[in-house]
Parts: sequence; C-alpha cells; structure tokens
Amino acid sequence: MPAMDLGPKQRLDGRTALVLGASRGIGRAVAESLAQAGARVVLVARGAGELQAAARAIVAAGGSAHPLAMDVCAADAPARLSQVWRQLGRPCDIAVWNVAHYALYQVLEQIEPRTIENLLRTNVLAPLRLLQALLGPMRAGGFGRIVFVGSAASEPGSHGQVVYCASKSALTGLARSVAAEYGPAGVTCNVVLPGLVTTPRVEHAVQPAVRARILERSALGREGRAGEVASVICFLCSDAGGLITGAEWTASGGLGLDPARSGAPKE
Ligand SMILES: NC(=O)c1ccc[n+]([C@@H]2O[C@H](COP(=O)([O-])OP(=O)(O)OC[C@H]3O[C@@H](n4cnc5c(N)ncnc54)[C@H](OP(=O)(O)O)[C@@H]3O)[C@@H](O)[C@H]2O)c1
Repeated sequence: MPAMDLGPKQRLDGRTALVLGASRGIGRAVAESLAQAGARVVLVARGAGELQAAARAIVAAGGSAHPLAMDVCAADAPARLSQVWRQLGRPCDIAVWNVAHYALYQVLEQIEPRTIENLLRTNVLAPLRLLQALLGPMRAGGFGRIVFVGSAASEPGSHGQVVYCASKSALTGLARSVAAEYGPAGVTCNVVLPGLVTTPRVEHAVQPAVRARILERSALGREGRAGEVASVICFLCSDAGGLITGAEWTASGGLGLDPARSGAPKE
C-alpha cells in the first residue's frame, strides 16, 4: 500500500489495530486509514460479504487486513478476539470501537423496554466486555490506543434519541475512567464525536429534510466525510497523539455554533 504523506510520528508501521464495526461508513474509512498508515488491521462486523469486500480493498491497495465476522454481543466474542491476537502473534495495540445500535426516533415513554435493553447491550455492555479482554495485554506491552466513536448529538441532547444519546454519553465516562486506570501503563483512551457524516446508513435512514435541518446549525454547512473522521482517529492512535487521553474530540463541522447564514457571503 502506498505510504500516506504522514510524518514519522503519525505512521503506524509495526502496530496491530482492531476496528469494531469496520465493514462500511466511518468504520471502513478508519480501517483503511489505519492500514494506509502501516498498521495490520483486524476488521470486525456481522455481515461477512461486506466485511470481506472491505478487507479485500485494503489488501488490494497493499495493506494488511484480516476480516473477522462476528456479533460483538456474542458470548464468545472476547474469546474469539483473544484467539485472533494469538494467531497474529502480537497483542492488540490499537482498538477503535465504532459499532452502534440505533432505535427509531421516539420520545422515551414510547420506547419498548426490550429496545432499550438491546441498544444498551450493543452500545455499552459489549465494549465493556471486549475491553476487558484487550486491556491486560495492552498493559503488559506498555502501549495501547483506544478510541470510541461517540456522537455530537449526545452533548446538547437530542429529541427522540434519549437512549442512543445515553449510550454515547456512557462511552465518555468509560473512556475517561479507562484513561485514568491505564494511563500509567502507556494506554490512552479517547472519544471522537462525529456530527452528520455521509455514510450508507445516513443515506438510507435519515430523511433529507432532517439532514438539511441539522446542517442549518453547522458552521461549515456541509456533511462530514467518513475519511475526515478517520483521520482524527488515526491521529489519536499515533505517537503524534500520545499526550491526548480521557478527551472528547468533536469532528462535526461546528455543529451547534448557530451560524448567521443569512449574512454569509454567497458562494
Ligand atoms: N454517520 C453519522 O452521521 C454519525 C454521526 C454521529 C455518530 N456516528 C457514529 O459513527 C459510527 C458509525 O456510523 P456509520 O453511519 O458509519 O455506520 P453504521 O451503519 O452504524 O456502521 C456500523 C458498523 O458496525 C457493524 N455492526 C453493527 N452492529 C454490530 C454488531 N452487533 N456486531 C458487529 N458489528 C456490528 C456494521 O456491520 P454489520 O451490520 O454487518 O454488523 C457496520 O460495519 C456509529 O457508532 C455511529 O453512532 C455516526
């Protein structure tokens, strides 16, 4: 894979990386960027076809990619991950949690208890369980980079998204506490908060009128690209980002800054 035009402190040669939720959208862009920076990447998602296509594209571009089709909520998920690292003969240096489960836009009192449980199982319990399997080897190796993909929607709160926002905010508490516990062992842990990013899910599931309304509150006035979120994550995973831990990084194009569009110069 042709080396990206990165400074040596942003290269990831010799590192291993795990991207959970890597088959499309932001997660796929993260896997591609980590591989371009030189990391060997393990890609996880449930759908084997899309996952293998993502891994093949990385290999075709000269990178190193290993697809692992599994549900992150499965009881044996932590054991399967540990097995992969044993096979690679190295501990996991970098872990990016990008998986999310969504609920319909509904006010809290209309949401079924089962929907709440399913969402929290995927968005909060699964990363806790998987991190338990990864942190020991990171501590032993004296190095680790963990990044959670949260959401800029959870900071101000969002009508109709109580459970999703609660789960994304939980990742911040999780990241800060892991940062405190494992910082002395050389492990950093951060959260990246995307705003509206063009991905297959957004194209399919978010109405154009809703997307337009969100962009009215964005300083840049455009949707983000998956690669733009990926480059922030890659930076945090590199030596260049080594001082940053327990932090939230917003990559939203200035969502919520309330720009005065009527006074803005016409393009
Ligand atoms: N796009 C945006 O505008 C936006 C804004 C704010 C935050 N975010 C966050 O960014 C992340 C990615 O969003 P996205 O829009 O790129 O796409 P997405 O459709 O949410 O992609 C999710 C990825 O996770 C995998 N996945 C889902 N459930 C899984 C499970 N139980 N086990 C294993 N893999 C699973 C999916 O593949 P399978 O379905 O095949 O398993 C897919 O690869 C999410 O955390 C989302 O909350 C996105």
